[in-house]
Amino acid sequence: MTAPAPLTYLVTGGAGFIGSHLADALLAHGHTVVVLDDLSTGDRANLATAWPDPRLRFVRGSVLDARLVDELVGRCDRVVHLAAAVGVRLVVEQPLKSFTTNVRGTETVVEAAHRHGRPLLLASTSEIYGKNGAGPVAETADRVLGQSTVARWSYATAKAADEVLALGYHREHGLPVTIARLFDTAGPRQSPAYGTVVMRLAAQAVAGQPLTVYGDGTQRRCFAHVTDVVDALLRLLDHPGAVGEVFDVGSGEETSIGDLAGLVVERAGSPSPLRFIPYEEAHAGGHGFEDLARRVPDTRKLRELTGWEAGHRLTDIVDAALLDAGGGFPGPAAPASFPAPVRV
Ligand SMILES: NC(=O)c1ccc[n+]([C@@H]2O[C@H](COP(=O)([O-])OP(=O)(O)OC[C@H]3O[C@@H](n4cnc5c(N)ncnc54)[C@H](O)[C@@H]3O)[C@@H](O)[C@H]2O)c1
Repeated sequence: MTAPAPLTYLVTGGAGFIGSHLADALLAHGHTVVVLDDLSTGDRANLATAWPDPRLRFVRGSVLDARLVDELVGRCDRVVHLAAAVGVRLVVEQPLKSFTTNVRGTETVVEAAHRHGRPLLLASTSEIYGKNGAGPVAETADRVLGQSTVARWSYATAKAADEVLALGYHREHGLPVTIARLFDTAGPRQSPAYGTVVMRLAAQAVAGQPLTVYGDGTQRRCFAHVTDVVDALLRLLDHPGAVGEVFDVGSGEETSIGDLAGLVVERAGSPSPLRFIPYEEAHAGGHGFEDLARRVPDTRKLRELTGWEAGHRLTDIVDAALLDAGGGFPGPAAPASFPAPVRV
């Protein structure tokens, strides 16, 4: 079998957690990668591995800049749109900015992809299922959302609007679009600052601080390792059967957050106690934050089309988070300085 021809990918949000891992993987597959990122939650240090590769081009800019997006999309063969205002804390604290970035930014990217006829992979989220947590939620599951006055649901609404827009361009204008609904993803480079629970718990354990668990800790989640998520994205990008379709991407290994905190303490060998914090305290000013009892993906569609399987267990994810948090085994250091951003 011959290897697919090298392509040029535009990865918006490519200096972020998932985007930087995707950039590494695309470069490893021989492709050229143009990263567009405003570094609002991303970091150039995330691209430390990729940076020396001449096939990486980094552009600091916003997906809200229609001219820049148009120019970059025109120079690339395919687009992966990951740039978004993400993380519960950011979305709760800056609901308006988050909503605008997530709706307008996606509109800008989708319109440019349409103008230039470029295939688009859009990162959506399990958040769009809202409170539907009866069991594993398949792509056809209903969306059960709370009030628009609750900031959490504005993120879900914005991402659903992104999906509607992308699918509309596919159905009415033939734009090749694939939507990946990512469930909780964890792994190296994930910022503990934006409400990602695994990294936050790992950082607390390494620092010998109490591990803060919001609510009573019985809420249940599945965490996929970022390497597995990137593998799923690569398979979807390369599969013609994925065009026009929506896929759940996530792990089926379920844990309560209380048990997760216990596992972090155990793997870290940390004496840290668990501290349970009411949601109102954790998200002060969050206009009535609501959490979900359970969130589990149904990945049958993804597996049947692409053969994807998660290769990592929760213990691998916790160990990687502890490593990343500096738990006695310092990971590779990012270069102290980077060359000036490159304009393409
Ligand atoms: N991490 C998860 O568990 C998870 C779950 C579901 C969905 N997702 C989706 O995956 C995508 C990537 O998320 P992530 O976890 O890597 O978060 P991240 O914050 O690390 O990455 C987002 C990137 O987008 C950039 N960005 C934000 N606004 C921008 C703008 N206006 N212009 C250009 N760049 C901008 C940020 O600087 C950052 O680098 C997002 O679309 C998110 O909704 C992630």
